[in-house]
Amino acid sequence: MAPRPFAVTRRRRETEDTWTLELEPAGGGEPLVLAPGQFTMLYAFGSGEVPISVSGDVEGPLVHTVRAVGAVSQAICAAKRGAVLGVRGPFGNAWPVEAALGGDAIVIGGGIGLAPLRPVVHELLRRRAEFGEAAVLYGSRRPEELLYAKELERWRKDLQVDLTVDAADTSWAGKVGFVAKLVAGARFDPAAATAFVCGPEIMMRTCAEALLGRGVAPERIHVSMERNMQCGLGHCGHCQLGPTLICRDGPVYRWDEVAPLMAVREL
Ligand SMILES: Cc1cc2nc3c(=O)[nH]c(=O)nc-3n(C[C@H](O)[C@H](O)[C@H](O)COP(=O)(O)OP(=O)(O)OC[C@H]3O[C@@H](n4cnc5c(N)ncnc54)[C@H](O)[C@@H]3O)c2cc1C
Ligand code: FES
Repeated sequence: MAPRPFAVTRRRRETEDTWTLELEPAGGGEPLVLAPGQFTMLYAFGSGEVPISVSGDVEGPLVHTVRAVGAVSQAICAAKRGAVLGVRGPFGNAWPVEAALGGDAIVIGGGIGLAPLRPVVHELLRRRAEFGEAAVLYGSRRPEELLYAKELERWRKDLQVDLTVDAADTSWAGKVGFVAKLVAGARFDPAAATAFVCGPEIMMRTCAEALLGRGVAPERIHVSMERNMQCGLGHCGHCQLGPTLICRDGPVYRWDEVAPLMAVREL
């Protein structure tokens, strides 16, 4: 599948190394509609292509939040307004937001992991009356690495928002500690709760354990997995996780399905 050209229409710096880009089809054409949790293969011409989750409202333009960790993600973050990137997709499955309707929803992000969860938060806000309790628990390494700082404050009007950082100096008045610790203080009914968790694997594991400890059923805990990707189409095998391919069967997995695979080192 050839990449379609998309122009950067807006860019915003989130943190020292992370940018949010809005993209629209270059020269017009059909917009790309992604469900929360899905991703595109984003191509910086001359550098390469990487999988990046949708981070914007599914009813708006295509939005990606990208952390510059290597050559390709750096080239994408450097794309100025008007620059053209290639887009393939959408790929992957979606966060099961509908399955959470009528019950409580817990969104837990670590670092850049809040980006793929932001469309879930938008759904919670749009359909607030259809959920019971709704919580966003978010942690980053340092205060200046928290994404979407202004939005987090706005979300507090309608959602429980609890933040923590791994380490901070005295200018930070908030909590210090791992995000899994916030699970104990969140208001939700474990019997009616659905959890959406994204971040480093160790963080997703500790959060799942905390949720299980409060009585949330493993099949109602959902995590988003990452592996290197190449085709995005289930052909090349680069994204294999046990008997599954993340680009085809994920990236969103139920905890009862993925926990046995995560227990095997370097699988
Ligand atoms: C389904 C899926 C969705 C993703 N969504 C997003 C997203 O929304 N936003 C985003 O910024 N990234 C996202 N990623 C991760 C992103 O694809 C990688 O960061 C990117 O492929 C790195 O490519 P690179 O060439 O820039 O760096 P590389 O040259 O591949 O890596 C440079 C260095 O960074 C390390 N590194 C690579 N990936 C990561 C990572 N994810 N976290 C920490 N260190 C890493 C490598 O080990 C290496 O040391 C997603 C990945 C997957 C599989
Ligand atoms: S990226 Fe090729 S099979 Fe998943």
